[in-house]
Amino acid sequence: MKTRLNVNVDHVATLRQARMGGEPDPVAAAVAAELAGAQGIVVHLREDRRHIQNTDLILLKESVQTKLNMEMAPTDEMIEIAVNTLPDVVTLVPEKRQEITTEGGLDVRGDIEKISAAIKEIKRAGILVSIFADPNSDQIMATSKTGADMVELHTGSYANTSDKTGMITQLDKIRKATEEALSQELRVSAGHGLNYLNVTAVSRIKGIEELNIGHSIISQAIFRGMEKAVKEMIDLL
Ligand code: PXP
Repeated sequence: MKTRLNVNVDHVATLRQARMGGEPDPVAAAVAAELAGAQGIVVHLREDRRHIQNTDLILLKESVQTKLNMEMAPTDEMIEIAVNTLPDVVTLVPEKRQEITTEGGLDVRGDIEKISAAIKEIKRAGILVSIFADPNSDQIMATSKTGADMVELHTGSYANTSDKTGMITQLDKIRKATEEALSQELRVSAGHGLNYLNVTAVSRIKGIEELNIGHSIISQAIFRGMEKAVKEMIDLL
């Protein structure tokens, strides 16, 4: 089965926030991505609201026809917003104020009680829960104990490696983590740093249902338009 593509539209909001105005609109970007064949839309509502705003999330909830995945830190504020907005999926991610983008997976192992409690509350609202985790055994095993439905494997180390041997090593870690997650009855997705050059190898890993991609698609859309940028990525999966 073909790996599904979910498009992250955070960077459309990043550009809008540069002028604090109304354009470009991440909701319009989401509509265009869906029309081009994206099977889900992803946004990260950060504590500092550097790109996506609460109103974006509400409008996306009303307009997204495929699946809305809200990335968020497991904080009380975000849990309240999620259970009031009801996205289809919540992905729990770590968040640091000073980081440029999400730097690593959630330390599930180190914070298992807090994360499990957050998941319980989110799932009670009928939302599917995914955890963004590094592709290593400790984190996968910890994730399987939290009650999460899915794990999103962090592909950043793979994407940041430029030599072939390093890439093969990182792909192998993602493959092993996928197998381990599936054996624990977790569904598997992956993302971070994926682009038109490195995506195909990840999409070939059996068991990864979907990929969440933002930066590269939005960058390509500046030159090619959203429709072509999304279609070209789908063709590579
Ligand atoms: N998955 C998660 C959990 C993320 O935090 C991000 C970045 O917002 C992505 C996927 C997409 O990463 P990129 O923008 O590098 O494609």
